[in-house]
Amino acid sequence: MAKAEILDVMSSAKLFLGLLAAVEEGVADLLYESGPLSVEQLAARTGTLPAPLRSLLRALDSAGFVAEGPDGYVLTEAGRRLSAFHPRSLNHLLRLEAWGAREHVSLPGLQAALRGRQVPTELPEPLIPVLASAVEVGGAVPALLISRRPELRGVRHLVDVGAGSGQYAVALCRAHPELRVTALDREPMLTHAGDRVARHTELRDRIQVVRWDLHTDPLPVRGDAVLVSHLLHLLDAPERLDLLARIADGLEPGGLLLVHDFLGPRLDSGVIIDWMARGACFDLDAAELIADAESCGFTPVRTERLPGAGSSLVVARRR
Ligand SMILES: C[S@@+](CC[C@H](N)C(=O)[O-])C[C@H]1O[C@@H](n2cnc3c(N)ncnc32)[C@H](O)[C@@H]1O
Repeated sequence: MAKAEILDVMSSAKLFLGLLAAVEEGVADLLYESGPLSVEQLAARTGTLPAPLRSLLRALDSAGFVAEGPDGYVLTEAGRRLSAFHPRSLNHLLRLEAWGAREHVSLPGLQAALRGRQVPTELPEPLIPVLASAVEVGGAVPALLISRRPELRGVRHLVDVGAGSGQYAVALCRAHPELRVTALDREPMLTHAGDRVARHTELRDRIQVVRWDLHTDPLPVRGDAVLVSHLLHLLDAPERLDLLARIADGLEPGGLLLVHDFLGPRLDSGVIIDWMARGACFDLDAAELIADAESCGFTPVRTERLPGAGSSLVVARRR
């Protein structure tokens, strides 16, 4: 990488922390709801000091996320997505990033990962509603796209492994009137999925949410298809193979496997650093994932690129 690019990266890394501070201290939400606000008003309402807060706002101004007018600061169009109140908010994702930056996506975290530290796949309980909201925003488009894949025609019972907020289950059942979905996850995420399903009264009988542990449990039901969306990246290589083998055990020959995850070639560097810092080191291209699936009893059907940070869909069938 050339010298100028290194300097750019140094600056963006610090600006990113500035964005996290604005989100975590509630500055973005206050400006969204009641802007324009002066530095003094914002400082009083967030319990911060005016001098460092002014510096933070100037940094965000210089990057185009806020603008200073005669009555104080406002969020720009780009800055509005920092607030949890924006319809396509990135606030929840940034709050997860803030947790990551405190826990492991940091210099000490990366150095610990290089010496073998692994972060548990389970987020702390207070962050589960934040994760549920973040996956809802991030998964809205892929859930619709996946629900329209031709291989799903004729599938009667799909098992959604690590189902998150349940939005894939809802999208799939809406697209396929004959389909039933069993959505597997841990508590308390399962309660979020259950609440979401309950809001769709017409689908209540077709979606069942079941408590399940990613690290140990076999699939509790036999479906004719399994969806694994944005779950494998939480696991290191031996656990990934173990899960794929448990999924293969839960499918009859010909059963469908859909894996949706961050898959190269050319994965975003931030994504690679993230999974490396977790200790999972999920840094695969689609061909490597297919080789894993083949070793666990699947035959590849096709791979498709989906929108969003290098996400792909791998379609395979149980041999
Ligand atoms: C990144 S989210 C993906 C959710 C959903 N499949 C999607 O694509 O939006 C990862 C999911 O793994 C679940 N998970 C993490 N550790 C788990 C465990 N030990 N047992 C079961 N589920 C787990 C989380 O609760 C979360 O719903």
